Amino acid sequence: MSQHFQHDVLVIGSGAAGLTLALTLPTHLRIAVLSKGNLANGSTYWAQGGVAAVLDDTDTVESHVADTLDAGAGLCREDAVRFTVEHSREAIQWLIDQGVPFTRDDETAREDGGFEFHLTREGGHSHRRIIHAADATGAAIFNTLLEQARQRPNIELLEQRVAVDLITERKLGLDGERCLGAYVLDRARGEVDTFSARFVILATGGAAKVYLYTSNPDGACGDGIAMAWRAGCRVGNLEFNQFHPTCLYHPQAKSFLVTEAVRGEGGLLKLPNGERFMQRFDERAELAPRDIVARAIDHEMKRLGVDCVYLDISHKPAEFIKSHFPTVYERCLGFGIDITKQAIPVVPAAHYTCGGVVVDQHGRTDVPGLYAIGETSFTGLHGANRMASNSLLECFVYARSACADITEQLNTIEMPSDLPDWDASQVTDSDEDVIIAHNWDELRRFMWDYVGIVRTNKRLQRAQHRVRLLQDEIDEFYSNYKVSRDLIELRNLALVAELMISSAMQRHESRGLHYTLDYPEQLAEARDTILTPTPQAQPSAAG
Ligand code: FAD
Ligand code: SIN
Repeated sequence: MSQHFQHDVLVIGSGAAGLTLALTLPTHLRIAVLSKGNLANGSTYWAQGGVAAVLDDTDTVESHVADTLDAGAGLCREDAVRFTVEHSREAIQWLIDQGVPFTRDDETAREDGGFEFHLTREGGHSHRRIIHAADATGAAIFNTLLEQARQRPNIELLEQRVAVDLITERKLGLDGERCLGAYVLDRARGEVDTFSARFVILATGGAAKVYLYTSNPDGACGDGIAMAWRAGCRVGNLEFNQFHPTCLYHPQAKSFLVTEAVRGEGGLLKLPNGERFMQRFDERAELAPRDIVARAIDHEMKRLGVDCVYLDISHKPAEFIKSHFPTVYERCLGFGIDITKQAIPVVPAAHYTCGGVVVDQHGRTDVPGLYAIGETSFTGLHGANRMASNSLLECFVYARSACADITEQLNTIEMPSDLPDWDASQVTDSDEDVIIAHNWDELRRFMWDYVGIVRTNKRLQRAQHRVRLLQDEIDEFYSNYKVSRDLIELRNLALVAELMISSAMQRHESRGLHYTLDYPEQLAEARDTILTPTPQAQPSAAG
Protein backbone atom coordinates (compact mmCIF):
# COMPACT_ATOMS: atom_id res chain seq x y z
CA MET A 1 0.00 0.00 0.00
CA SER A 2 1.32 3.42 -0.85
CA GLN A 3 1.49 6.03 1.91
CA HIS A 4 1.13 9.81 2.21
CA PHE A 5 3.63 12.05 4.04
CA GLN A 6 3.55 15.77 4.80
CA HIS A 7 6.56 18.00 5.46
CA ASP A 8 7.14 21.73 5.44
CA VAL A 9 10.20 21.22 3.29
CA LEU A 10 11.02 18.21 1.12
CA VAL A 11 14.74 18.12 0.27
CA ILE A 12 15.53 15.60 -2.46
CA GLY A 13 19.23 14.87 -2.00
CA SER A 14 21.52 14.38 0.99
CA GLY A 15 24.77 15.84 -0.36
CA ALA A 16 26.47 19.12 0.50
CA ALA A 17 23.60 21.20 -0.90
CA GLY A 18 20.71 19.25 0.65
CA LEU A 19 22.24 18.84 4.11
CA THR A 20 23.32 22.49 4.27
CA LEU A 21 19.81 23.66 3.50
CA ALA A 22 18.24 21.27 6.02
CA LEU A 23 20.63 22.44 8.74
CA THR A 24 20.15 26.15 8.10
CA LEU A 25 16.32 26.17 7.95
CA PRO A 26 14.47 27.13 11.15
CA THR A 27 14.28 24.23 13.60
CA HIS A 28 10.49 24.36 14.00
CA LEU A 29 10.02 23.18 10.40
CA ARG A 30 9.44 19.50 9.61
CA ILE A 31 12.01 18.62 7.00
CA ALA A 32 12.51 15.39 5.02
CA VAL A 33 15.87 14.73 3.36
CA LEU A 34 15.75 11.92 0.80
CA SER A 35 18.55 9.87 -0.70
CA LYS A 36 17.97 7.31 -3.39
CA GLY A 37 20.72 5.08 -1.99
CA ASN A 38 22.41 5.34 1.36
CA LEU A 39 22.90 8.87 2.64
CA ALA A 40 26.51 9.04 1.38
CA ASN A 41 25.35 8.13 -2.12
CA GLY A 42 26.17 11.47 -3.82
CA SER A 43 29.36 13.02 -5.17
CA THR A 44 29.91 15.10 -2.04
CA TYR A 45 31.32 12.17 -0.10
CA TRP A 46 34.00 11.62 -2.77
CA ALA A 47 35.18 15.20 -3.13
CA GLN A 48 38.93 15.37 -2.67
CA GLY A 49 40.58 18.72 -3.36
CA GLY A 50 38.54 21.12 -1.23
CA VAL A 51 36.45 24.28 -1.27
CA ALA A 52 37.59 27.49 -2.96
CA ALA A 53 37.10 30.68 -0.94
CA VAL A 54 38.74 34.01 -0.24
CA LEU A 55 40.26 33.23 3.16
CA ASP A 56 43.78 34.53 3.23
CA ASP A 57 44.27 38.26 3.79
CA THR A 58 46.59 38.42 0.81
CA ASP A 59 43.83 37.07 -1.46
CA THR A 60 40.93 39.20 -2.75
CA VAL A 61 37.37 38.80 -3.94
CA GLU A 62 38.43 40.51 -7.18
CA SER A 63 41.11 37.90 -7.81
CA HIS A 64 38.78 34.92 -7.20
CA VAL A 65 36.13 36.56 -9.39
CA ALA A 66 38.65 37.23 -12.19
CA ASP A 67 39.98 33.64 -12.12
CA THR A 68 36.44 32.19 -12.22
CA LEU A 69 35.47 34.43 -15.14
CA ASP A 70 38.62 33.47 -16.99
CA ALA A 71 38.13 29.72 -16.46
CA GLY A 72 34.48 30.09 -17.54
CA ALA A 73 35.64 31.29 -21.00
CA GLY A 74 33.49 34.41 -21.12
CA LEU A 75 30.21 32.70 -20.24
CA CYS A 76 29.94 33.12 -16.45
CA ARG A 77 27.28 35.47 -15.16
CA GLU A 78 29.36 38.01 -13.33
CA ASP A 79 26.63 38.75 -10.76
CA ALA A 80 26.45 35.05 -9.86
CA VAL A 81 30.24 34.82 -9.59
CA ARG A 82 30.48 37.90 -7.43
CA PHE A 83 27.57 36.79 -5.22
CA THR A 84 29.18 33.37 -4.67
CA VAL A 85 32.66 34.66 -3.99
CA GLU A 86 31.48 37.45 -1.70
CA HIS A 87 29.66 34.88 0.44
CA SER A 88 32.52 32.37 0.41
CA ARG A 89 34.12 33.33 3.69
CA GLU A 90 30.92 33.17 5.72
CA ALA A 91 30.05 29.80 4.14
CA ILE A 92 33.41 28.40 5.23
CA GLN A 93 33.01 29.88 8.70
CA TRP A 94 29.64 28.10 8.95
CA LEU A 95 31.35 24.79 8.04
CA ILE A 96 34.06 25.40 10.63
CA ASP A 97 31.35 26.15 13.21
CA GLN A 98 29.64 22.86 12.33
CA GLY A 99 32.94 21.16 13.20
CA VAL A 100 34.42 20.23 9.80
CA PRO A 101 38.02 19.15 10.53
CA PHE A 102 39.85 21.14 7.86
CA THR A 103 43.61 20.60 7.65
CA ARG A 104 45.47 23.18 9.73
CA ASP A 105 48.49 25.07 8.48
CA ASP A 106 51.42 24.00 10.62
CA GLU A 107 54.05 25.58 8.42
CA THR A 108 53.36 29.30 8.60
CA ALA A 109 53.36 31.55 11.62
CA ARG A 110 49.93 33.16 11.81
CA GLU A 111 50.98 36.58 13.15
CA ASP A 112 51.22 37.64 9.49
CA GLY A 113 47.46 38.02 9.23
CA GLY A 114 47.22 34.75 7.27
CA PHE A 115 44.63 32.04 7.75
CA GLU A 116 45.06 29.27 10.33
CA PHE A 117 44.06 26.51 7.90
CA HIS A 118 46.19 25.13 5.09
CA LEU A 119 45.21 26.43 1.67
CA THR A 120 46.17 24.49 -1.44
CA ARG A 121 46.14 25.45 -5.10
CA GLU A 122 44.30 24.03 -8.09
CA GLY A 123 44.01 24.75 -11.81
CA GLY A 124 42.91 28.25 -12.83
CA HIS A 125 43.42 29.76 -9.36
CA SER A 126 46.07 32.46 -9.23
CA HIS A 127 46.20 32.19 -5.45
CA ARG A 128 46.27 29.50 -2.76
CA ARG A 129 42.61 29.50 -1.76
CA ILE A 130 41.41 25.89 -1.43
CA ILE A 131 40.55 24.89 2.13
CA HIS A 132 40.58 21.12 2.51
CA ALA A 133 40.72 18.11 4.81
CA ALA A 134 43.82 16.42 3.38
CA ASP A 135 42.55 14.81 0.15
CA ALA A 136 39.22 13.61 1.57
CA THR A 137 37.43 16.94 1.98
CA GLY A 138 34.05 15.65 0.87
CA ALA A 139 33.96 12.85 3.43
CA ALA A 140 34.98 15.26 6.21
CA ILE A 141 32.21 17.71 5.26
CA PHE A 142 29.57 15.04 4.68
CA ASN A 143 30.25 13.19 7.94
CA THR A 144 30.15 16.41 9.95
CA LEU A 145 26.93 17.69 8.38
CA LEU A 146 25.27 14.29 8.69
CA GLU A 147 26.19 14.06 12.36
CA GLN A 148 24.64 17.49 12.91
CA ALA A 149 21.49 16.55 10.99
CA ARG A 150 21.12 13.37 13.04
CA GLN A 151 20.93 15.49 16.18
CA ARG A 152 18.00 17.54 14.86
CA PRO A 153 14.61 16.02 15.75
CA ASN A 154 12.93 18.11 13.02
CA ILE A 155 15.01 16.53 10.22
CA GLU A 156 13.98 13.11 8.94
CA LEU A 157 16.73 11.39 6.95
CA LEU A 158 15.18 8.88 4.56
CA GLU A 159 17.43 6.45 2.67
CA GLN A 160 16.62 4.25 -0.33
CA ARG A 161 13.85 6.64 -1.44
CA VAL A 162 13.91 7.50 -5.15
CA ALA A 163 11.95 10.57 -6.23
CA VAL A 164 10.18 9.60 -9.45
CA ASP A 165 8.47 12.85 -10.41
CA LEU A 166 7.33 16.17 -9.03
CA ILE A 167 3.67 16.90 -8.36
CA THR A 168 2.57 20.31 -9.61
CA GLU A 169 -0.71 22.15 -9.82
CA ARG A 170 -0.40 22.10 -13.57
CA LYS A 171 0.02 18.32 -13.73
CA LEU A 172 -3.05 17.88 -11.52
CA GLY A 173 -5.08 20.14 -13.80
CA LEU A 174 -5.47 22.78 -11.05
CA ASP A 175 -5.22 26.53 -11.46
CA GLY A 176 -1.64 27.65 -10.89
CA GLU A 177 1.86 26.37 -11.38
CA ARG A 178 3.06 25.62 -7.86
CA CYS A 179 5.04 22.51 -6.95
CA LEU A 180 3.15 20.55 -4.28
CA GLY A 181 5.37 17.57 -3.61
CA ALA A 182 6.78 14.47 -5.23
CA TYR A 183 6.10 10.81 -5.89
CA VAL A 184 8.81 8.76 -4.23
CA LEU A 185 9.66 5.07 -4.62
CA ASP A 186 10.42 3.35 -1.31
CA ARG A 187 12.86 0.70 -2.50
CA ALA A 188 12.38 -1.52 0.56
CA ARG A 189 8.60 -1.79 0.06
CA GLY A 190 8.57 -1.40 -3.71
CA GLU A 191 5.76 1.16 -3.35
CA VAL A 192 5.53 4.73 -4.68
CA ASP A 193 4.47 7.10 -1.87
CA THR A 194 3.10 10.64 -2.06
CA PHE A 195 5.09 13.38 -0.33
CA SER A 196 3.31 16.74 0.07
CA ALA A 197 5.39 19.77 1.00
CA ARG A 198 5.15 23.54 1.17
CA PHE A 199 8.57 23.81 -0.48
CA VAL A 200 10.40 21.23 -2.60
CA ILE A 201 14.14 21.34 -3.17
CA LEU A 202 16.07 19.51 -5.85
CA ALA A 203 19.56 18.84 -4.50
CA THR A 204 20.09 15.76 -6.62
CA GLY A 205 23.62 16.34 -7.95
CA GLY A 206 24.90 16.07 -11.52
CA ALA A 207 24.58 13.77 -14.51
CA ALA A 208 28.12 12.59 -15.32
CA LYS A 209 26.91 8.99 -15.30
CA VAL A 210 25.66 9.71 -18.81
CA TYR A 211 29.24 8.91 -19.88
CA LEU A 212 30.90 5.50 -19.90
CA TYR A 213 33.91 6.70 -17.92
CA THR A 214 33.24 9.02 -15.01
CA SER A 215 34.68 10.03 -11.66
CA ASN A 216 31.13 10.16 -10.25
CA PRO A 217 29.32 7.63 -8.07
CA ASP A 218 26.55 5.54 -9.64
CA GLY A 219 23.66 7.84 -8.72
CA ALA A 220 24.80 10.85 -10.79
CA CYS A 221 21.97 10.41 -13.30
CA GLY A 222 20.56 13.93 -13.61
CA ASP A 223 17.28 12.95 -11.90
CA GLY A 224 16.66 16.50 -10.68
CA ILE A 225 17.27 18.02 -14.10
CA ALA A 226 14.89 15.53 -15.73
CA MET A 227 12.19 15.98 -13.06
CA ALA A 228 12.43 19.77 -13.27
CA TRP A 229 12.18 19.69 -17.07
CA ARG A 230 9.10 17.48 -16.93
CA ALA A 231 7.62 19.90 -14.38
CA GLY A 232 8.09 22.83 -16.78
CA CYS A 233 11.46 24.33 -15.79
CA ARG A 234 14.01 25.68 -18.23
CA VAL A 235 17.48 24.16 -18.31
CA GLY A 236 20.70 25.94 -19.25
CA ASN A 237 24.13 25.24 -20.75
CA LEU A 238 23.88 21.45 -20.65
CA GLU A 239 26.48 21.11 -23.43
CA PHE A 240 29.22 21.96 -20.92
CA ASN A 241 30.22 18.60 -19.47
CA GLN A 242 33.44 18.80 -17.57
CA PHE A 243 36.04 16.06 -17.94
CA HIS A 244 38.48 15.83 -15.06
CA PRO A 245 41.97 15.46 -16.53
CA THR A 246 43.34 12.94 -14.07
CA CYS A 247 41.47 9.77 -13.16
CA LEU A 248 43.55 6.74 -12.29
CA TYR A 249 44.04 4.48 -15.31
CA HIS A 250 43.88 0.90 -14.10
CA PRO A 251 41.51 -1.91 -15.13
CA GLN A 252 40.29 -2.41 -11.55
CA ALA A 253 40.12 1.25 -10.49
CA LYS A 254 36.51 2.26 -11.02
CA SER A 255 37.28 5.79 -12.21
CA PHE A 256 39.18 6.83 -9.11
CA LEU A 257 40.00 10.55 -9.16
CA VAL A 258 43.52 11.83 -8.56
CA THR A 259 42.92 15.26 -7.12
CA GLU A 260 43.97 18.40 -8.97
CA ALA A 261 45.69 19.45 -5.76
CA VAL A 262 48.45 16.98 -6.73
CA ARG A 263 49.21 19.33 -9.61
CA GLY A 264 48.63 22.29 -7.29
CA GLU A 265 51.42 21.00 -5.04
CA GLY A 266 53.87 20.46 -7.92
CA GLY A 267 52.74 17.27 -9.72
CA LEU A 268 53.81 17.18 -13.39
CA LEU A 269 52.01 15.66 -16.37
CA LYS A 270 54.25 13.51 -18.55
CA LEU A 271 54.09 11.42 -21.70
CA PRO A 272 55.05 7.73 -21.54
CA ASN A 273 58.65 8.74 -22.46
CA GLY A 274 58.85 11.02 -19.41
CA GLU A 275 58.59 14.28 -21.38
CA ARG A 276 56.40 17.12 -20.04
CA PHE A 277 53.86 18.49 -22.53
CA MET A 278 51.43 20.93 -20.87
CA GLN A 279 53.62 24.00 -21.48
CA ARG A 280 53.03 23.45 -25.22
CA PHE A 281 49.29 24.05 -24.66
CA ASP A 282 49.12 26.83 -22.06
CA GLU A 283 51.62 29.01 -20.23
CA ARG A 284 50.04 27.92 -16.93
CA ALA A 285 51.04 24.36 -17.87
CA GLU A 286 49.69 21.80 -15.34
CA LEU A 287 47.68 24.52 -13.60
CA ALA A 288 45.71 25.66 -16.62
CA PRO A 289 41.90 25.34 -16.27
CA ARG A 290 40.51 21.84 -16.62
CA ASP A 291 39.07 22.07 -20.13
CA ILE A 292 42.51 22.96 -21.48
CA VAL A 293 44.35 20.22 -19.57
CA ALA A 294 41.78 17.50 -20.43
CA ARG A 295 41.82 18.46 -24.11
CA ALA A 296 45.63 18.49 -24.17
CA ILE A 297 45.77 15.00 -22.64
CA ASP A 298 43.15 13.75 -25.10
CA HIS A 299 45.15 15.26 -27.96
CA GLU A 300 48.43 13.69 -26.85
CA MET A 301 46.83 10.27 -26.24
CA LYS A 302 45.32 10.28 -29.75
CA ARG A 303 48.51 11.65 -31.36
CA LEU A 304 50.70 8.98 -29.82
CA GLY A 305 48.11 6.20 -29.77
CA VAL A 306 48.67 5.60 -26.03
CA ASP A 307 46.16 4.52 -23.38
CA CYS A 308 47.11 7.09 -20.74
CA VAL A 309 49.55 9.80 -19.68
CA TYR A 310 51.34 10.08 -16.33
CA LEU A 311 51.07 12.36 -13.32
CA ASP A 312 54.32 12.50 -11.40
CA ILE A 313 54.78 13.92 -7.90
CA SER A 314 57.53 11.50 -6.88
CA HIS A 315 60.11 14.36 -6.86
CA LYS A 316 58.48 15.65 -3.63
CA PRO A 317 59.51 14.19 -0.23
CA ALA A 318 57.64 10.96 0.57
CA GLU A 319 56.37 12.34 3.89
CA PHE A 320 54.90 15.40 2.16
CA ILE A 321 53.07 13.20 -0.35
CA LYS A 322 51.72 10.84 2.30
CA SER A 323 50.47 13.61 4.56
CA HIS A 324 48.89 15.74 1.81
CA PHE A 325 47.44 12.92 -0.26
CA PRO A 326 46.81 9.93 2.04
CA THR A 327 43.74 8.75 0.09
CA VAL A 328 45.42 8.87 -3.30
CA TYR A 329 48.59 7.30 -1.87
CA GLU A 330 46.72 4.36 -0.28
CA ARG A 331 44.44 3.78 -3.23
CA CYS A 332 47.32 3.74 -5.74
CA LEU A 333 49.40 1.55 -3.47
CA GLY A 334 46.48 -0.91 -3.46
CA PHE A 335 47.01 -1.21 -7.22
CA GLY A 336 50.77 -1.63 -6.84
CA ILE A 337 51.65 2.00 -7.65
CA ASP A 338 53.84 3.73 -5.04
CA ILE A 339 53.31 7.41 -5.88
CA THR A 340 56.29 8.46 -3.77
CA LYS A 341 58.47 6.58 -6.30
CA GLN A 342 56.42 6.22 -9.46
CA ALA A 343 54.27 8.33 -11.78
CA ILE A 344 50.51 7.67 -11.76
CA PRO A 345 48.85 6.51 -15.03
CA VAL A 346 45.93 8.88 -15.66
CA VAL A 347 43.15 9.56 -18.19
CA PRO A 348 40.34 12.14 -18.36
CA ALA A 349 36.83 11.09 -17.25
CA ALA A 350 33.44 12.83 -17.07
CA HIS A 351 33.32 14.72 -13.82
CA TYR A 352 30.88 17.61 -13.55
CA THR A 353 27.67 18.95 -15.12
CA CYS A 354 28.18 22.71 -15.51
CA GLY A 355 24.64 23.35 -16.75
CA GLY A 356 21.38 22.40 -15.07
CA VAL A 357 18.04 23.73 -13.92
CA VAL A 358 17.84 27.50 -14.45
CA VAL A 359 17.65 29.26 -11.06
CA ASP A 360 17.97 32.75 -9.64
CA GLN A 361 20.18 33.91 -6.79
CA HIS A 362 17.92 32.14 -4.26
CA GLY A 363 17.85 28.83 -6.10
CA ARG A 364 14.27 29.50 -7.28
CA THR A 365 13.31 27.64 -10.47
CA ASP A 366 10.60 28.62 -12.95
CA VAL A 367 8.02 26.63 -10.94
CA PRO A 368 6.89 28.40 -7.74
CA GLY A 369 7.75 26.47 -4.60
CA LEU A 370 10.45 24.46 -6.39
CA TYR A 371 14.14 25.21 -5.76
CA ALA A 372 17.28 23.67 -7.26
CA ILE A 373 20.63 23.90 -5.48
CA GLY A 374 24.08 22.38 -5.93
CA GLU A 375 25.26 20.58 -9.03
CA THR A 376 21.74 20.07 -10.38
CA SER A 377 21.26 23.82 -10.77
CA PHE A 378 22.43 26.35 -13.33
CA THR A 379 23.26 29.55 -11.49
CA GLY A 380 25.61 31.07 -14.07
CA LEU A 381 28.65 30.65 -11.79
CA HIS A 382 30.58 28.18 -13.92
CA GLY A 383 30.12 29.50 -17.45
CA ALA A 384 31.66 27.25 -20.08
CA ASN A 385 34.03 25.53 -17.65
CA ARG A 386 33.85 25.23 -13.86
CA MET A 387 36.95 26.24 -11.97
CA ALA A 388 38.25 23.65 -9.51
CA SER A 389 36.63 23.61 -6.06
CA ASN A 390 33.99 26.20 -6.92
CA SER A 391 31.32 23.50 -6.92
CA LEU A 392 31.14 22.74 -3.22
CA LEU A 393 31.26 26.47 -2.59
CA GLU A 394 28.22 26.94 -4.82
CA CYS A 395 26.37 24.21 -2.85
CA PHE A 396 26.90 26.06 0.46
CA VAL A 397 26.26 29.59 -0.79
CA TYR A 398 23.06 28.79 -2.70
CA ALA A 399 21.68 26.45 -0.03
CA ARG A 400 22.03 29.27 2.50
CA SER A 401 20.47 31.75 0.09
CA ALA A 402 17.52 29.40 -0.66
CA CYS A 403 17.04 29.05 3.09
CA ALA A 404 16.70 32.83 3.47
CA ASP A 405 14.11 32.94 0.70
CA ILE A 406 12.04 30.05 2.08
CA THR A 407 12.14 31.50 5.58
CA GLU A 408 10.72 34.79 4.29
CA GLN A 409 7.73 33.02 2.74
CA LEU A 410 6.85 30.73 5.62
CA ASN A 411 3.80 32.67 6.75
CA THR A 412 2.22 32.83 3.32
CA ILE A 413 2.44 29.26 1.98
CA GLU A 414 0.03 26.56 3.17
CA MET A 415 0.49 22.80 3.22
CA PRO A 416 -0.98 21.21 0.08
CA SER A 417 -3.67 18.64 0.78
CA ASP A 418 -5.45 15.78 -0.99
CA LEU A 419 -2.75 14.90 -3.47
CA PRO A 420 -3.68 11.84 -5.51
CA ASP A 421 -1.98 8.46 -5.13
CA TRP A 422 0.54 7.28 -7.67
CA ASP A 423 -1.39 5.28 -10.25
CA ALA A 424 0.13 1.83 -10.66
CA SER A 425 -3.05 0.13 -11.86
CA GLN A 426 -1.86 -0.30 -15.45
CA VAL A 427 1.62 -1.70 -14.82
CA THR A 428 3.03 -5.15 -14.07
CA ASP A 429 6.34 -6.53 -12.81
CA SER A 430 9.03 -6.51 -15.46
CA ASP A 431 10.63 -9.74 -16.61
CA GLU A 432 12.90 -7.90 -19.07
CA ASP A 433 15.43 -6.17 -16.83
CA VAL A 434 18.18 -7.15 -19.25
CA ILE A 435 16.82 -4.51 -21.65
CA ILE A 436 17.35 -1.79 -19.04
CA ALA A 437 20.94 -2.91 -18.47
CA HIS A 438 21.59 -3.04 -22.21
CA ASN A 439 20.12 0.44 -22.81
CA TRP A 440 22.16 1.89 -19.96
CA ASP A 441 25.32 0.57 -21.51
CA GLU A 442 24.45 1.70 -25.03
CA LEU A 443 23.55 5.23 -23.90
CA ARG A 444 26.73 5.75 -21.91
CA ARG A 445 28.89 4.34 -24.68
CA PHE A 446 27.56 6.53 -27.51
CA MET A 447 27.62 9.61 -25.28
CA TRP A 448 31.29 8.90 -24.63
CA ASP A 449 32.05 8.31 -28.31
CA TYR A 450 29.93 11.07 -29.86
CA VAL A 451 29.41 13.79 -27.22
CA GLY A 452 32.83 13.70 -25.55
CA ILE A 453 35.83 16.01 -25.30
CA VAL A 454 35.95 16.61 -29.07
CA ARG A 455 32.65 16.83 -30.98
CA THR A 456 31.47 17.17 -34.58
CA ASN A 457 28.08 17.84 -36.16
CA LYS A 458 27.95 14.32 -37.51
CA ARG A 459 28.70 12.71 -34.16
CA LEU A 460 26.06 14.83 -32.45
CA GLN A 461 23.48 13.91 -35.11
CA ARG A 462 24.27 10.23 -34.61
CA ALA A 463 23.91 10.59 -30.86
CA GLN A 464 20.59 12.41 -31.26
CA HIS A 465 19.24 9.68 -33.51
CA ARG A 466 20.29 6.95 -31.09
CA VAL A 467 18.97 8.67 -28.00
CA ARG A 468 15.55 9.17 -29.56
CA LEU A 469 15.27 5.49 -30.45
CA LEU A 470 16.27 4.60 -26.91
CA GLN A 471 13.73 7.01 -25.46
CA ASP A 472 10.89 5.35 -27.41
CA GLU A 473 11.88 1.99 -25.99
CA ILE A 474 12.25 3.38 -22.47
CA ASP A 475 8.86 5.16 -22.63
CA GLU A 476 7.18 1.92 -23.61
CA PHE A 477 8.87 0.14 -20.74
CA TYR A 478 7.93 2.91 -18.33
CA SER A 479 4.25 2.76 -19.34
CA ASN A 480 3.98 -0.99 -18.91
CA TYR A 481 6.14 -1.97 -15.97
CA LYS A 482 6.49 -1.08 -12.30
CA VAL A 483 9.19 1.49 -11.66
CA SER A 484 12.55 0.45 -10.23
CA ARG A 485 15.59 2.60 -9.42
CA ASP A 486 17.33 1.42 -12.61
CA LEU A 487 14.37 2.26 -14.81
CA ILE A 488 13.85 5.69 -13.21
CA GLU A 489 17.53 6.51 -13.65
CA LEU A 490 17.69 5.26 -17.23
CA ARG A 491 14.61 7.30 -18.18
CA ASN A 492 16.12 10.43 -16.62
CA LEU A 493 19.57 9.86 -18.05
CA ALA A 494 18.20 9.42 -21.57
CA LEU A 495 16.22 12.66 -21.25
CA VAL A 496 19.22 14.56 -19.90
CA ALA A 497 21.40 13.09 -22.68
CA GLU A 498 18.89 14.35 -25.24
CA LEU A 499 18.97 17.82 -23.65
CA MET A 500 22.78 17.80 -23.65
CA ILE A 501 22.91 16.82 -27.32
CA SER A 502 20.30 19.45 -28.30
CA SER A 503 22.26 22.09 -26.40
CA ALA A 504 25.52 21.05 -28.06
CA MET A 505 23.89 21.18 -31.50
CA GLN A 506 22.73 24.75 -30.87
CA ARG A 507 26.22 26.01 -30.08
CA HIS A 508 28.01 26.91 -33.31
CA GLU A 509 31.39 27.70 -31.79
CA SER A 510 34.04 26.16 -29.54
CA ARG A 511 34.06 27.58 -26.06
CA GLY A 512 35.36 26.15 -22.80
CA LEU A 513 34.30 22.52 -22.46
CA HIS A 514 32.37 22.49 -25.74
CA TYR A 515 34.92 21.85 -28.48
CA THR A 516 33.75 20.96 -31.98
CA LEU A 517 35.85 20.41 -35.10
CA ASP A 518 33.08 21.95 -37.22
CA TYR A 519 33.20 25.31 -35.41
CA PRO A 520 36.71 25.57 -33.93
CA GLU A 521 36.52 29.33 -33.30
CA GLN A 522 34.97 31.17 -30.38
CA LEU A 523 32.23 33.67 -31.31
CA ALA A 524 32.63 37.28 -30.22
CA GLU A 525 29.39 37.24 -28.24
CA ALA A 526 28.98 34.75 -25.40
CA ARG A 527 25.45 33.35 -25.07
CA ASP A 528 23.86 30.80 -22.78
CA THR A 529 21.98 27.87 -24.29
CA ILE A 530 18.60 27.90 -22.60
CA LEU A 531 16.06 25.19 -23.45
CA THR A 532 12.37 25.61 -22.59
CA PRO A 533 10.05 22.60 -22.25
CA THR A 534 7.02 22.52 -24.52
CA PRO A 535 3.63 21.58 -23.02
CA GLN A 536 3.67 18.15 -24.70
CA ALA A 537 6.87 17.34 -22.74
CA GLN A 538 4.67 17.22 -19.62
CA PRO A 539 3.74 13.74 -18.42
CA SER A 540 0.48 13.06 -16.60
CA ALA A 541 0.26 13.50 -12.83
CA ALA A 542 1.22 9.93 -12.03
CA GLY A 543 3.93 9.71 -14.66
P1 FAD B 1 25.52 15.19 -4.43
O1 FAD B 1 26.52 15.27 -3.37
O2 FAD B 1 25.89 14.47 -5.67
O3 FAD B 1 24.23 14.52 -3.78
C1 FAD B 1 23.13 14.14 -4.57
C2 FAD B 1 22.08 13.57 -3.64
O4 FAD B 1 20.85 13.46 -4.35
C3 FAD B 1 22.39 12.16 -3.13
O5 FAD B 1 21.99 12.07 -1.80
C4 FAD B 1 21.48 11.27 -3.99
O6 FAD B 1 21.11 10.08 -3.35
C5 FAD B 1 20.29 12.19 -4.13
N1 FAD B 1 19.42 11.90 -5.27
C6 FAD B 1 19.70 12.02 -6.59
N2 FAD B 1 18.61 11.68 -7.31
C7 FAD B 1 17.65 11.35 -6.43
C8 FAD B 1 16.31 10.90 -6.55
N3 FAD B 1 15.73 10.71 -7.75
N4 FAD B 1 15.61 10.64 -5.43
C9 FAD B 1 16.17 10.80 -4.19
N5 FAD B 1 17.43 11.22 -4.02
C10 FAD B 1 18.16 11.49 -5.13
N6 FAD B 1 33.89 19.85 -6.02
C11 FAD B 1 34.59 20.76 -5.32
O7 FAD B 1 34.19 21.91 -5.19
N7 FAD B 1 35.77 20.39 -4.72
C12 FAD B 1 36.29 19.13 -4.81
O8 FAD B 1 37.33 18.83 -4.25
C13 FAD B 1 35.56 18.18 -5.57
N8 FAD B 1 36.05 16.92 -5.73
C14 FAD B 1 35.28 16.00 -6.38
C15 FAD B 1 35.74 14.69 -6.46
C16 FAD B 1 34.94 13.71 -7.04
C17 FAD B 1 35.43 12.30 -7.13
C18 FAD B 1 33.66 14.06 -7.55
C19 FAD B 1 32.78 13.02 -8.17
C20 FAD B 1 33.22 15.38 -7.51
C21 FAD B 1 34.02 16.35 -6.92
N9 FAD B 1 33.60 17.68 -6.84
C22 FAD B 1 34.34 18.59 -6.14
C23 FAD B 1 32.27 18.07 -7.28
C24 FAD B 1 31.35 18.12 -6.04
O9 FAD B 1 31.70 17.07 -5.18
C25 FAD B 1 29.90 17.99 -6.40
O10 FAD B 1 29.56 18.89 -7.42
C26 FAD B 1 29.03 18.29 -5.18
O11 FAD B 1 29.41 17.45 -4.13
C27 FAD B 1 27.57 18.08 -5.50
O12 FAD B 1 26.84 18.17 -4.32
P2 FAD B 1 25.27 18.10 -4.37
O13 FAD B 1 24.80 18.26 -2.97
O14 FAD B 1 24.77 18.99 -5.41
O15 FAD B 1 24.96 16.61 -4.89
C1 SIN C 1 39.82 17.55 -7.40
O1 SIN C 1 40.12 17.36 -6.24
O2 SIN C 1 40.59 17.53 -8.34
C2 SIN C 1 38.39 17.85 -7.72
C3 SIN C 1 38.14 19.26 -7.47
C4 SIN C 1 36.87 19.70 -8.13
O3 SIN C 1 36.21 18.93 -8.84
O4 SIN C 1 36.54 20.86 -7.95
